[in-house]
Amino acid sequence: MCGIVGYIGNKDSKEILLKGLEKLEYRGYDSAGIAVMSNEGVQVFKEKGRIADLRKIVDTSVIANAGIGHTRWATHGAPSTRNAHPHRSGTSRFTLVHNGVIENYSELQRDYLQGVELQSDTDTEVIVQMIDLFANEGLSTLEAFCKTLTLLKGSYALALLDEEDNETIYVAKNKSPLLVGLGDMFNVVASDAMAMLQVTDQFVELMDKEIVIVKKDEVTIQNLKGETISRSPYKAELDASDIEKGTYPHYMLKEIDEQPLVMRKIIQKYQDKNGGLSIDSEIVEAITAADRVYIIAAGTSYHAGLVGKQMIEKLAGIPVEVHISSEFGYNMPILSEKPLFVFISQSGETADSRAVLVQVKEMGYPALTITNVPGSTLSREADYTLLLHAGPEIAVASTKAYTAQLAVLAIVAEVSAKSRGREIGFDLVQELGIVANAMEALCDSKEIMEHIAREFLTVTRNAFFIGRAVDYYVCLEGALKLKEISYIQAEGFAGGELKHGTIALIEEGTPVIALATQENVNLSIRGNVKEVAARGANPCIISMKGLETDEDTFVLPVVHEQLTPLISVIPLQLLAYYAALHRDCDVDKPRNLAKSVTVE
Ligand code: F6R
Repeated sequence: MCGIVGYIGNKDSKEILLKGLEKLEYRGYDSAGIAVMSNEGVQVFKEKGRIADLRKIVDTSVIANAGIGHTRWATHGAPSTRNAHPHRSGTSRFTLVHNGVIENYSELQRDYLQGVELQSDTDTEVIVQMIDLFANEGLSTLEAFCKTLTLLKGSYALALLDEEDNETIYVAKNKSPLLVGLGDMFNVVASDAMAMLQVTDQFVELMDKEIVIVKKDEVTIQNLKGETISRSPYKAELDASDIEKGTYPHYMLKEIDEQPLVMRKIIQKYQDKNGGLSIDSEIVEAITAADRVYIIAAGTSYHAGLVGKQMIEKLAGIPVEVHISSEFGYNMPILSEKPLFVFISQSGETADSRAVLVQVKEMGYPALTITNVPGSTLSREADYTLLLHAGPEIAVASTKAYTAQLAVLAIVAEVSAKSRGREIGFDLVQELGIVANAMEALCDSKEIMEHIAREFLTVTRNAFFIGRAVDYYVCLEGALKLKEISYIQAEGFAGGELKHGTIALIEEGTPVIALATQENVNLSIRGNVKEVAARGANPCIISMKGLETDEDTFVLPVVHEQLTPLISVIPLQLLAYYAALHRDCDVDKPRNLAKSVTVE
């Protein structure tokens, strides 16, 4: 949530900052700003809205070799130009961008800033005003920065400009992601490597409570005690084309289409030299040693966890509980004797999940993170990591990361089963290959999906997704996709549960999308469809080949019954996409959301 960038070097910084912010817009997009340091001092341009709106107000005649930028997802203070970053101190000497939340900002304001008239409603402004205060009291900029940091409670990634020193950007991080990128006579700062791939692929990871003094030809990392830390850079394994839309109108459609490719990549990455599937032996040992697995995740990743539970329990025979990360800490169940915690997170940055990770690590339990982002906070802080290999997911609505999570969970289930001497009765490599082919066929059925979306979802105010057994979990995901990008009120329901109250909402024409991919519940879900149809609903049945009837709207190709969620979700992703398009919604950047939710 919120993205920050910085550049210092020989080139004009404006375009680099703006391009960087465009790549970070997925992190928040209600307002944006840059501050650039020219010969006339620091100039700030900020605007409510998107980076495109910011571009319109940046004075192109200003030439500045250093600058910082920010794209915002509002936490404290409404989305507005006034609350947009960068924020300046009262004397205008210091300018700051911030990603994170300062929990004690009111106390700091009360204790240090009596009499200072704040220019915004944000928690961030308190930081820059305090740095100014301490500098006025005689501290150097670095000392004032460090002193302020020691007083902050909460999360931050910060980049600071001092008008009296046009050769330095001061940077610090705690709990919010931040990287420094290295170049030849320039250096950069970014919340995500993607933002600065335009100029470098060499990055240095930063740890919590570190401070970095970034100059064009030198980067110094130190801790709050002033001790210098040396750390080698790594090469960002990202292809610039991975983060471009290419000929696609939206990232979401591109990412839906990438799913077959991601499946094949996952098979390749997890295949051993004997052609079977394997994961790090330490992870296998950790799973084998556990008497219960606790999956912790949010949103779409939580939905993947629900499917993963079924896979691990059915194939490996290990009991699994799945918990919403924002609830777990307040509502912790009685834990088993030897739990293993598994965190599922596309971004690896979700603050709600991280809070649980910190808590269970303190309790001494082992943790595995399944994530798409190597080096992300959840990956670094867990004992073990399994990567999704889905490539950058940029659309706010998660698609390819979800199916990648399911595939990796299937692999975990299979490998765990093997390690416990259980036969799963099918060849997972082969079955995932069949899934990839089926996905391809489904991605080719866009016209049909567009037609179904037009027929069922263009004018409605609500929609229901019903399924039984594992189809129910996919329905939860289908409903989330639809509501987050089309703003149609959508609910995923267990087919048998509707009649216990919710069926009262069914009216003439209410769309009810039913999944029927499981033989053992095929008749009962069809019974539930009849119940809603009798009350006026407009049913759309998506079934698996072999289970279909004449009433069905769409039939899925056959895949192994343990793997049906990997393909049954694709029509639901496409329905959500086309419903959003038909309703003129901003598919890739839905209102009120951000891709990486780094606040609790
Ligand atoms: C919905 C979506 C969110 C995320 C959730 C967790 O399309 O993307 O529900 O799944 O915010 O994010 P990660 O997986 O990054 O922890």
